[in-house]
Amino acid sequence: MQTIFRGKHFITLQEWTKEEIDTLLDVSYDLKRKFAMGIPTPYLRDKTIFLMFFEQSTRTRNSMETGITQLGGHANYLDTSTMQVAHGEVAKDTAIILSRYGHAIACRNCFWGIGNKYLREMAKWATVPVINMQDDLYHPLQAIADLMTMQEKRGDLRKAKVSVIWAYATTHKKPISVPVSQVLLFPRYGMDVTLAYPEGYDLPDWVIEQAKENAEKNGGSLKITHDQEEAYRDADVVFPKNWGSWVTNQSTEVIDDLLQKYQGWKCTEKMMQLASKDVLYMHALPADRGNEVEDSVIDGPHSVVYDEAENRLHTAKAVMTLTMGGR
Ligand code: CP
Repeated sequence: MQTIFRGKHFITLQEWTKEEIDTLLDVSYDLKRKFAMGIPTPYLRDKTIFLMFFEQSTRTRNSMETGITQLGGHANYLDTSTMQVAHGEVAKDTAIILSRYGHAIACRNCFWGIGNKYLREMAKWATVPVINMQDDLYHPLQAIADLMTMQEKRGDLRKAKVSVIWAYATTHKKPISVPVSQVLLFPRYGMDVTLAYPEGYDLPDWVIEQAKENAEKNGGSLKITHDQEEAYRDADVVFPKNWGSWVTNQSTEVIDDLLQKYQGWKCTEKMMQLASKDVLYMHALPADRGNEVEDSVIDGPHSVVYDEAENRLHTAKAVMTLTMGGR
């Protein structure tokens, strides 16, 4: 079936076929190579993307802004607290108006129970592609950069043991969108994914069912454990990262008794020694240093976090090139 990328929404990778994701990766590699060689890539000349942020960002905002500049277009950064959204303007009206002015709408809205619905409502009314810059359930821009980074470092990922591991953190109650996107995507590339978390930090049941289905169709697997050592043992890649207990406790309170019980869930050198000798340490960032991970690990020889963050640029440019240009 022929794919029409132009105008295609990028809300979850689950709604992109494997072939479409492979094209997205191909374009990412091509843009990365051209950027390294200083070859201009003005594929989106005179096009505007709106970047609506309900929350803070370093990587997503800057990879999208510099990305569109390198593609010859322009980004309008929109802090939603300064938009009429703050006075209650609905997603429908915002989506229709911004569609009349520009060529894509990207949005970050991580409010639990709201974010993904908000993006879907915009996508229903927008006449331009809607790009998810992270919502309460999905962070496809992060997952695709993670996949690219693992491919670059390890090549064929079939049967690689990749562990998505909950870690203690106190900065803010983080969305589940990164682990959800990872456990859905990685089994599609044949990886053996271990999802490890302490009791109370479950991902939604429908995510697990979908991830298992993805694994079955593509030769990967998904295993769940509450034993972090099991997740580190012989792992080829580890993603130790905090997420909030949204499914079991929807309070926005950052610190609670449940969280405090699990301070031992930290990526330490001792844990890393259980893994394969050339294990990759990865993290979407920002990391809560000292809580999620020891400095000696994130700054150590197994860490590829800065390459991973750089790939946010190349993959973001590929998403914009295909959905705002493409065919
Ligand atoms: N990983 C990530 O999305 O980073 P930011 O929150 O800084 O955009």
